[in-house]
Amino acid sequence: MLSLENIEVSIGGSQILRDVSFTVPTGSITCLMGRNGVGKTTTLRTIMGLLPPTRGSIVFNGCKITSMPPEERARAGIGFVPQGREIFPHLTVEENLHVGCVARGKSASSGLNRIFSLFPILKDFLPRKGGMLSGGQQQQLAIARALLTEPKLLILDEPTEGIQPNVIDQIGDTIRLLREEGKMSILLVEQYLEFAKELSDYFTIMDRGAVVAGGPIEKLTDSVIQQHLVV
Ligand SMILES: Nc1ncnc2c1ncn2[C@@H]1O[C@H](COP(=O)(O)OP(=O)(O)OP(=O)(O)O)[C@@H](O)[C@H]1O
Ligand SMILES: [Mg+2]
Repeated sequence: MLSLENIEVSIGGSQILRDVSFTVPTGSITCLMGRNGVGKTTTLRTIMGLLPPTRGSIVFNGCKITSMPPEERARAGIGFVPQGREIFPHLTVEENLHVGCVARGKSASSGLNRIFSLFPILKDFLPRKGGMLSGGQQQQLAIARALLTEPKLLILDEPTEGIQPNVIDQIGDTIRLLREEGKMSILLVEQYLEFAKELSDYFTIMDRGAVVAGGPIEKLTDSVIQQHLVV
């Protein structure tokens, strides 16, 4: 579904990503892991076309997308829920949902019933300003907005960061459901280890801008965790 090959990225003259290669197999949940500041968000931004790699290539769904502009990648079927959620705080829930769709040329109304069955709270809060929602509700809104574009690949950057346990469970259930429906591949950046282990089929671990471990989730052993993830 997605593969990165030998990706290098520099920001302001310093190299941030070094020879990053990994794949997200079709229909799988792949978790990108690593301590703070190792380059996870930078990797996702590169996949979305927000940062140009100085070397390497990105292949999505059989097409080389390395130099495709971000909006075309979105149209090709990559949905992105950024770290920190980035919903529009001054727009209502309803407007937030519409904006995501209009930006990608789809009508919102078609997918709304499904969104409300996944996240019933959003239906109750349609007229409320995005900024008035709790962190967990904003995360659900951000995921809903990405889902309305009907992505083939959904990319989530730390969806559990700063969120209450009951909402984390709900988000986990939603991600699991999306996988079970089988229409979507998911790339998840996650530092909450239990959540990542429970959900994922594959993992990739980064350290200081490079991939240092990866494979089927069963290979994420305590010694790998100790070596690369424990702070
Ligand atoms: N715009 C930028 N300008 C300069 N340096 C940057 C910029 N964005 C990221 N970096 C640096 O790149 C490195 C990787 O950052 P990145 O945000 O990708 O890490 P991360 O793994 O997502 O971390 P976290 O777990 O804290 O979200 C860090 O050392 C960071 O300081
Ligand atoms: Mg990050």
